[in-house]
Amino acid sequence: MRKELLVPEGEMTAAKAAAKRVKEEISHLGLSYHIESYGCQMNDHDSEKLAGMLEEMGCVKAADKADADVILFNTCCVREHAEKRVYGNIGALKKRKDEKPGLLIGVCGCMMQQKEAGDRLFRRFPFVDMVFGTNELHRFPNIFESALHHDRVIQVREMDGEIAEGLPVLRSGTFSTNVTIAYGCNNFCSYCIVPYVRGRERSRDSAAIVEEVRSVAAAGFKEVTLLGQNVNSYSGDDGATDFPTLLRMVHDGVPEIQRIRFMTSHPKDLSPALMDAIAELPRVCKHIHLPVQSGSNRILKLMNRRYTREKYMEEVEELKRRVPGIELTTDMIVGFPGETEADFEDTLDLIRRVGYSAAFTFMYSPRKGTMAATMPEQVPDEVKHDRLQRLNALQAEILKEGNLKYIGTEGEVLVEGCDRRAEPMAYGKLSNFKMVYFPGGEELIGSMCRVRITANQNNSLIGELIK
Ligand code: SAH
Ligand code: SF4
Ligand code: F3S
Repeated sequence: MRKELLVPEGEMTAAKAAAKRVKEEISHLGLSYHIESYGCQMNDHDSEKLAGMLEEMGCVKAADKADADVILFNTCCVREHAEKRVYGNIGALKKRKDEKPGLLIGVCGCMMQQKEAGDRLFRRFPFVDMVFGTNELHRFPNIFESALHHDRVIQVREMDGEIAEGLPVLRSGTFSTNVTIAYGCNNFCSYCIVPYVRGRERSRDSAAIVEEVRSVAAAGFKEVTLLGQNVNSYSGDDGATDFPTLLRMVHDGVPEIQRIRFMTSHPKDLSPALMDAIAELPRVCKHIHLPVQSGSNRILKLMNRRYTREKYMEEVEELKRRVPGIELTTDMIVGFPGETEADFEDTLDLIRRVGYSAAFTFMYSPRKGTMAATMPEQVPDEVKHDRLQRLNALQAEILKEGNLKYIGTEGEVLVEGCDRRAEPMAYGKLSNFKMVYFPGGEELIGSMCRVRITANQNNSLIGELIK
């Protein structure tokens, strides 16, 4: 891997050394930890790395968060709602800290990476011991060591961030897990804070990715999701490897992995080569998360999404043509500055035409420092609420209709869990991301089951096991 993309070796060695010292100092104490993770899978994965480092230092996962000796908040700032929740939950810990002064509290993640947010939090909550940004993750052992010795620490660097390869990871799933292929984002959609808090886009080397997928397969994982803010602009190995090529490398290089998913795909970079890779590679799931955000060309332009509704619709048609049976999911924002009733109707019209199998819908939330936050004609909250509710109602209807076509069909479900109702119901997803429930017990968890769909219910399908 290119040196300039990596965290300086000195920092990695210093962190390893700190981890070793801490372990010698505290492993006999059996300190327990609890990590509260907010936001997207990127953050979830960072939390797995924090857990990995804590375990490396001799800590154990707390059975109950109320008993934890170390509590970390891995924060998200993509919408105001996420931020408010974090502040509330941190504030609630003051009493715990008074009762148990040895409790170590840390706050990290995207929120800390915003201008002055870390400083402000550090001052506002004197009982917080550690504040650090997303660029500091690999230095957690050093930060933790200082906090153990009663020094409050704040470390946030405003930089684009290099990649730290080789951190220990404690994966929380049992059969499905995530592997990051690229960090950061260069797109600067006008509403979005992510490029400011996660820095410029950096792609990992393909060999490191394939190796990690191989290791998770060896550890028993059946499904892997390749993660990036925009996987379609993956450009690894000095630009020699694009995303469709990477997908083939992972698919062909790790035959033990039964399902390969990826997210998120930005519509502006969706290529025919990717469509073909999805169609041709049997273990790549027939599903794409292709967020459209809005169905209005005027709003798409203001959002700096760099595609039109027509271009998006063409891509969807092409996808459906090249990958028979593919299902699409999306993210949508309502109430973007200047969004009129007519713009919103365009959004409703688009979701009707595409027929998504799931839509993650959000009310626009102004983020300080982004272009859209200063745009005139901010939409009143009541209007946002009303549009969100109408959008969700329409999507629910579309989903119900869309599900009907599956009745009588068969497919493979990777079983994720089991609901113990009157009759135990196993559940999991089809390759196309549709959730299926069928009579079956806990012993099926983690296995691939052939199922016949017999009915639809709310957001999911009902089926029966084919023996
Ligand atoms: N990189 C991904 C998404 C990252 S954020 C992509 O481009 O699709 C996940 C979703 O949060 C976005 O797709 C968008 O729908 C939503 N989002 C981001 N910023 C937002 C904001 N300021 N207000 C409301 N929703 C927002
Ligand atoms: Fe945000 Fe746009 Fe980047 Fe997604 S592509 S993370 S929405 S700036
Ligand atoms: Fe993800 Fe939230 Fe950060 S969505 S990248 S955790 S701001």
